[in-house]
Formats: sequence, C-alpha cells, structure tokens
Amino acid sequence: MHYIPLIPLSELPENTHKSVRSDKHTIVLFHYEGTVTALGNSCIHEGGDLSQGSIQRLEDGELYIVCPWHGWQYSLKSGKAPQGYRDRQALYDVIVENGMIMVSEEPSREAFRAVHDDDPLADLRKMEYQTTKSSLNVLGISTTNMNRDLPRPSTSETALQSALDFAASEFGAATKMIRIRDLDFRHCEGYYSRHENACTWPCSISEMDPEDGMNAVYRAMVLWADAVILATPIRWGNASSLFYKMAERLNTVQNQITIHDRVLIKNKVASFIITGGQDNVQGVAGNLNAFFSDLGFTFPPFNFVGWSRGWIAEDTENNYNTFFRSRYVKRSVKELVTNTLHLVMQIKGMDVTDLHTPKPKISEAGTLSE
Ligand code: FES
Repeated sequence: MHYIPLIPLSELPENTHKSVRSDKHTIVLFHYEGTVTALGNSCIHEGGDLSQGSIQRLEDGELYIVCPWHGWQYSLKSGKAPQGYRDRQALYDVIVENGMIMVSEEPSREAFRAVHDDDPLADLRKMEYQTTKSSLNVLGISTTNMNRDLPRPSTSETALQSALDFAASEFGAATKMIRIRDLDFRHCEGYYSRHENACTWPCSISEMDPEDGMNAVYRAMVLWADAVILATPIRWGNASSLFYKMAERLNTVQNQITIHDRVLIKNKVASFIITGGQDNVQGVAGNLNAFFSDLGFTFPPFNFVGWSRGWIAEDTENNYNTFFRSRYVKRSVKELVTNTLHLVMQIKGMDVTDLHTPKPKISEAGTLSE
C-alpha cells in the first residue's frame, strides 16, 4: 500500500483531532489513547465536517467521533457506527515514520451507507406526489391551541371546518383537516445554523424519529394537497405559536430551494383564515403570505378571510357567538374556497370564470342582538 506523508506527529498532540487534505481526500486524523487513526472527514450521512465533532466513549468502551450536524457516531479505530448499525465511515491505514504521520493513499475500508428496505420515509425521499391532473385535495391546517380534554369553541377552526365542508359539497373536493395541537413533534433544532446543508429533506428530525408528528404535515402538505387553507387565531398581533412551531419545521422544504434549487411545492395554492378578538389581520396575512410564498405556494386574489371585533372588545365570551352569526364570515369563507379552488383548476387547465371578493361589509357584521 502506498502511504502519503501528511503532518508531523508534533502537530497532532494527544487528545486532539484535526482535518488534513491529502492529494485526493480530506481526512480527519485522531490522536487518542496513544494511537493515531484516520477516517474520511465528510460524514456519510449528509457531509458534516467530522473534524468539528466531539469525542464520546460509548458503552462498548470505544471512543467515537460524534458528527456535529446530526449526531451520527463513528468509531475512531474502525470507522464503524455503533452496534446495531451497519454504516461505516471510510477508514485509512496510518503509520508514523520518523515523526511523520503517513496515511494510505486510498481507504483501507471504504465508507458504507446502509440502505434500508423498510425506510419509513421512502415516500418523502422519493417525492411520491398523490395529486393528479383532476384532483382537488384541500388540506385544512388548524393552528389554534386548546386543552384537548376541555375543548372550547374556536372561531378560526369553525371557519376552517365550514370551508372544508363547502369545498367537499360544492366542488367535490377531497378534504383533510390537521389540527397541529394534536401532533406530537419536536421543535426545529436549528441544524441550519451549523451549515445550510445540515438542514435536510426529509427533515433530519424525521429521520431520527419517524413517529415525529410533523411527518403528517409533510405528507399532507407536500405530497397530497392541491390547496392548503391555514387557519390561525391572532395572538399578540401574530399568528399562533403553533403556527410558528410548524413553520420552523418547514425550513426543510424551503431550504431545498436554497441549497439545491429544488422546489418541492409546485402548483399548489394557499389561503388563510385569520381571526382574533383584537386586530392585526393584515399584519398576520402579510406574514403568512410571505412565508407560504417562500415555500413555493401560489395565491388566488383575496386569499384571506379576516375577522376581529377590535381592540376594545374585551367581552371575549361574546366572540364566538358574534362570529358564528356573522353573514360576512359565512359568505367570505365560501368565496375564499371558491377562489382557491378556481385557481387550482386554472393551474390544472380547467375552465374558471368567476371571481369572488371575500371582503367585509359592515352590513354583514354579526351583532350581539342579531
Ligand atoms: S450526522 Fe453527519 S451529516 Fe448528519
């Protein structure tokens, strides 16, 4: 085997590791427990820089490098992942001659990434879209929060449900409702801040935990839906915290555009229902439009229904009944759905001529006495 001199041993003190470039490869050298070993530097998962990783001793007594991106581990001596995994980082042979670290020109054991037949995320990985040329799949996403054991009436969710019912009855649409509060999922853990390539599709959290609740959103929003209608209450002038928790986990969709110019969401339409005891409907609509636009969604004209009773309406016990009686809400929700599905049909080449304006009219505002 041909060995290449890399660096003097004096430049790799005991209990350190560093990356070094050979002629062809970037290699990470380790000097631990009196031995120098060498692995490929680029993690076989998504290319994380192993030289930036930390060292851990696992239960088998061996030292492992922990990838700084998503925590994959490789034995310093063998390059193997811990027991139970077949993955392996490339391993290079090392000799130290006359104080110089020499490394085999090619790996003595090649890297190996196990392919799993029963990959629980295969549909997301392969982008198995469920839309067709004539499908009208409408996904409702409710982001209001409440005690699951003590539910309360919600203005935003009621409007969303009636939007889905109307889409089904008037357009024959297939509908699905996802209540974000029913999903158990982890917050975005900010891998992007390590490196833009560390934010992956499918999301690395989904890979770590195929049971993560966001997988239902990825499947429904990215693979199944032709249209998404998102409903949110206004909280402190913004969309709900559950919306933002979901939105941060959708970085995985947006980041594909950033790093691969790969648009996962194409020809899909988004509209919004925004309700609040107090105001900032336009601010919330602006934020939602900006975010969904960045995901790749298209918008119909007049793509949000807003409802609020204003700043001084502290009699919140009257919100729901006032909302429920509002003729404006009843009309505008239908018009929102109509405009949304007309755009879907236009995108799919179907004939659409009507345009509706789901805008408030004072004559239709619900009143306490109505
Ligand atoms: S664990 Fe190394 S890149 Fe993901």
